[in-house]
Amino acid sequence: MKYITIISLTLSILINNVFGQEEDIIKYRKNIMKAVGNHISIIAANLKGKVDINSDILPHSNALYLSLAAIDIDKTFPEGTSNTSGLKTKSLPIIWSDKKAFRESMKVSTEKAKALVIAAEGGNRQDIGKALGALGKTCGNCHNKFREKKN
Ligand code: HEC
Repeated sequence: MKYITIISLTLSILINNVFGQEEDIIKYRKNIMKAVGNHISIIAANLKGKVDINSDILPHSNALYLSLAAIDIDKTFPEGTSNTSGLKTKSLPIIWSDKKAFRESMKVSTEKAKALVIAAEGGNRQDIGKALGALGKTCGNCHNKFREKKN
C-alpha cells in the first residue's frame, strides 16, 4: 500500500513536470509572438501619424527582425504541444506533420522583416509602409495555415 502511494506520488510529480514544461514553452512562444506583434503596432502607430516618434521605427524594425530570426523552431515548438494536447495553445498539428512548410513560412517572414529594416534605414515612409504591409501578409499566411482560427 505504502509503495503504491509512493509510486503514484512520483508519477504525478513526473506528469506535472512534463505538463508544466509544456505550458511554460507555450507561454514563452506566445510572448515572442506578442512581442513581434507589439513592434508592428509601434511602427504602424508612427506611420499612421497616431504618434510622431519616428526615431522609434528603425529600432523596433530591428527588434522585430532579430526576434523572428532568433526563433529556434525545434525548441520553441516542441512535439506534443499542439492544440490537440489539451493545453492552451492555438498551434495546429500541421506544424509537426509539415515542419518543412512551417520552417519555410518562418524564413519568408524573417526575410520580409529584414526588408523592413532596410526600408527603415532608408527612411522613406512610403517604402516603410509597403515593407510593413508585405511583412504583415507573411504573418497572416502562417497563421492561416498553422494556427487555429479564432471563433
Ligand atoms: C511560421 C509561422 C508564423 C509566423 C511567420 C508568424 N507567426 Fe504568429 N503565431 C504562429 C503560431 C503557430 C501561433 C500560435 C501560438 C500558440 O498558441 O501556441 C502564433 C501566434 C501569434 C500571436 C498570438 C499570441 C498569443 O498571445 O496567443 C500573435 C500576436 C502573433 N502570432 C503575431 C505575429 C506577427 C505580428 C507575425 C509577423 C511579424 C507573426 N506572428 C508571424 C505562427 C507564426
